[in-house]
Amino acid sequence: MKEDILTLLNKYDLPLPRYTSYPTVPYWEKDTITSKNWAESVVETFKKENGELCIYIHLPFCENLCTFCACNKRITTNHKVEEPYLVTVLKEWEMYRNLLPTSPVIREIHLGGGTPTFFSPENLVKLISGITKDAKVVADHEFSIEVHPNYTSEAHLKALASVGFNRISLGVQDFDPAVQYVINRVQSFEKTNEVVQWARKHGYNSINVDLIYGLPKQTVDSIDFTIKKIKELKPDRIAFYSYAFVPWKSKGQRRYTKMDLPKANEKWKMYQLGKTLLTEQGYKAIGMDHFALPNDKLFDAVNNGTMHRNFMGYTTTQSKLIIALGASSISDAWIAFAQNEDEVEEYQEKIAEGLFPIKNGHLLTQEDLSIRKNILDLMCRGNTVLDSNTFDEASLKSIMEEFSLLEKDGLLKTEKNKIIITEKGSLFIRNICASLDARMRRKKTEGNMFSKSI
Ligand SMILES: C[S@@+](CC[C@H](N)C(=O)[O-])C[C@H]1O[C@@H](n2cnc3c(N)ncnc32)[C@H](O)[C@@H]1O
Ligand code: SF4
Repeated sequence: MKEDILTLLNKYDLPLPRYTSYPTVPYWEKDTITSKNWAESVVETFKKENGELCIYIHLPFCENLCTFCACNKRITTNHKVEEPYLVTVLKEWEMYRNLLPTSPVIREIHLGGGTPTFFSPENLVKLISGITKDAKVVADHEFSIEVHPNYTSEAHLKALASVGFNRISLGVQDFDPAVQYVINRVQSFEKTNEVVQWARKHGYNSINVDLIYGLPKQTVDSIDFTIKKIKELKPDRIAFYSYAFVPWKSKGQRRYTKMDLPKANEKWKMYQLGKTLLTEQGYKAIGMDHFALPNDKLFDAVNNGTMHRNFMGYTTTQSKLIIALGASSISDAWIAFAQNEDEVEEYQEKIAEGLFPIKNGHLLTQEDLSIRKNILDLMCRGNTVLDSNTFDEASLKSIMEEFSLLEKDGLLKTEKNKIIITEKGSLFIRNICASLDARMRRKKTEGNMFSKSI
């Protein structure tokens, strides 16, 4: 490995946000949000968007705990939880429907988790029919679901296709049995391939696979093995995530320690190998951690500069209103964020009382909106222009000083107020965005909050 990169990795592998939002959740000012101003923000953006919106539904249940997982999930084998949860989600949607002045126009529905296919095919159909009832759905809608192949049947995919689902994302992470053992997720290639074939058979036109580099027991060889197996599946899109080690938040990760994880320089080698192999297979590297084939919409979105990033990661829709339903889910009304209660019981109790189950939120200021745009530009387009009206002279000076240090390391170029990320800088994109993070600069919170940036 080049000496230069080693030095950069040592210098920049810091705990930093992944910037799926700005401000990032730990820097939200919870006191700025109330049920009333949240509802007003939703209606304001709804009107500006001519009634168009996206819906995220969090279905938190999983039968088995994968020890690496940092998502909000509830482990259970008791399927009696399906019905009351589903009823609550539909009630929450009804609360939003009562707010909206006209019938919503649905562009996207995304089912995330947890394991959405924990629910039976019949219950998933009931859920989606309840959401789309009396609403319009755009002709080129995207309805997508995240699945763990071990818990997905052909009946699930067939039923979801019948209510408009056309995109699927399969969790794989790694095919090496030694890695699968330590992350408690034994998943065969054959089962994964079977689910991919069902998806193609039932008309899903975009198939994504999630992979992770930096897991315990993972090596450059296991990445080589996994990515060569991926070639046989030929998904349209691949998310190749850097492993987020956050044991203070996700207790399953305490099955191993930092000592069991690959070091930053090994992680870098894994990413580089993955990128090389995927590029050879015809994929284009996109943003921080995505790859897409030329037939995929994300590929076009990058080329025409319309790619967007939100709590679900990179997306092709530039929607400014995402209503998120279910425990722990985060809604985005562009001028405000709201996060639901994490615990299923608390979420259900609040909905039963007719209250929005908000546990946290944030009303964005003009400065937030401007920085949000800069960070989105950097994450999605690799460049941005700073607005001198947003920053006072002193802040602009200190930001530009930080950028000039990053420029000396070859991570970006500056032209007056314009910042352009270089090829070398694309691995350090979180560090570059952090230089603009005014809220983090002003209020350093204590303790662990973020995973390492590389
Ligand atoms: C909700 S999970 C996946 C859906 C489904 N439950 C499954 O396991 O396949 C969404 C994705 O988040 C990613 N993920 C979860 N924990 C992570 C972590 N600690 N670091 C990086 N990515 C993580 C994984 O790639 C996973 O496929
Ligand atoms: S990775 Fe998926 S199946 Fe495993 S615990 Fe997390 S959400 Fe559940």
